[in-house]
Amino acid sequence: MVGRFSRLVVAMTVRMPKWFVGWVSRRYVAGKTIEDAVKVMHRLSSEGACFTIDVLGEEISTMEEANFFLEEYKRVITAITDNKFDAALSIKPTAFGILLDRELGMQNIESIVRLAKDHDMFVRLDMEDHRVTDDTIQVMLDMHEKGLENVGVVLQGRLFRSLSDIEEITKKIGPKADYRICKGIYLEPSDISHTERQPIIDATNMCIDAMLDSGSYVAVASHDYPVINHTLAALKQRGMGPDINDPRPNSGPKRPHKGPGYEFQMLLGVRGPLRRKLTAEGHRARVYIPYGEKWYEYSIRRLKENPTIGTQVFKAIVMPWTNRP
Ligand code: FDA
Repeated sequence: MVGRFSRLVVAMTVRMPKWFVGWVSRRYVAGKTIEDAVKVMHRLSSEGACFTIDVLGEEISTMEEANFFLEEYKRVITAITDNKFDAALSIKPTAFGILLDRELGMQNIESIVRLAKDHDMFVRLDMEDHRVTDDTIQVMLDMHEKGLENVGVVLQGRLFRSLSDIEEITKKIGPKADYRICKGIYLEPSDISHTERQPIIDATNMCIDAMLDSGSYVAVASHDYPVINHTLAALKQRGMGPDINDPRPNSGPKRPHKGPGYEFQMLLGVRGPLRRKLTAEGHRARVYIPYGEKWYEYSIRRLKENPTIGTQVFKAIVMPWTNRP
């Protein structure tokens, strides 16, 4: 019933004028420019948050577009450094052109990862749909091979393959792996992915356990209590927690600007009270900050891909005071 209502709200919202979509999504998108993102990060820094910054945009059709992302991420690195933010980058390999011209795309990624490394910054490769899972993992492995270990990948709990991906990655780079684990935003086909809520949660939690047991760094990106509570229990079981040096005998290298083997991550505008509670308990909690000219496309995609967001849209309409950026 709630699902059907949510879908209806989303179906109506995506037909609304751009200003309306902008009003609903202002809570989830920092703005159009890096200056907008900087303002949001200044505000959230006072809450003890750290950040990962995403320049909105995905699959591109020309290598000139890849150049735009390269230049914009350089500006992001400058802004992080100038403002002394505790922040990392989130990039999408397709936005750098790996599907159009692999060699040039890899060069683009390598140059941004090198620049980030020079500034002591971490780069997360966001995970897109299953067509690029292999490529994205390979980009991360290639960077490690080149000695650029400030790069980590995202795995999606809903995909059947994720547990064996963890196994393969562990064979190749051991606990140097640095993961973000999430349920996965893309509604993937049922022959490669779980499609129901509980199996997705269970599979995501199994990935969290496997990642923790591999000694890797684990960033748990979820706002869902069954995932967060499972993580808290899994950490406790392994003697891990706030202000405790990572006690795992197989734990990876010490990582600057990171938590003791794990952290939580949440999207801008989503479940702030829960994030602040985790921070108050001493956990490291990172906020994903998307910004860019493509805010409209991003918002529409999120709405279409995850129609359960409809209830949030409805809440924003009937209780507009809750729709704070
Ligand atoms: P769930 O969807 O059940 O959400 C739990 C509750 O949180 C909801 O009931 C709602 O109240 C709230 N909520 C969640 N998402 C919301 C939203 N967008 N707006 C408003 N309320 C919301 N996916 C992917 O495929 N590749 C990736 O690289 C990433 N990267 C990423 C980074 C970070 C930091 C996060 C937090 C998430 C991602 N994701 C992602 C998205 C992820 O896969 C997943 O789709 C969402 O986090 C929603 O799943 P939850 O585990 O939060 O549960």
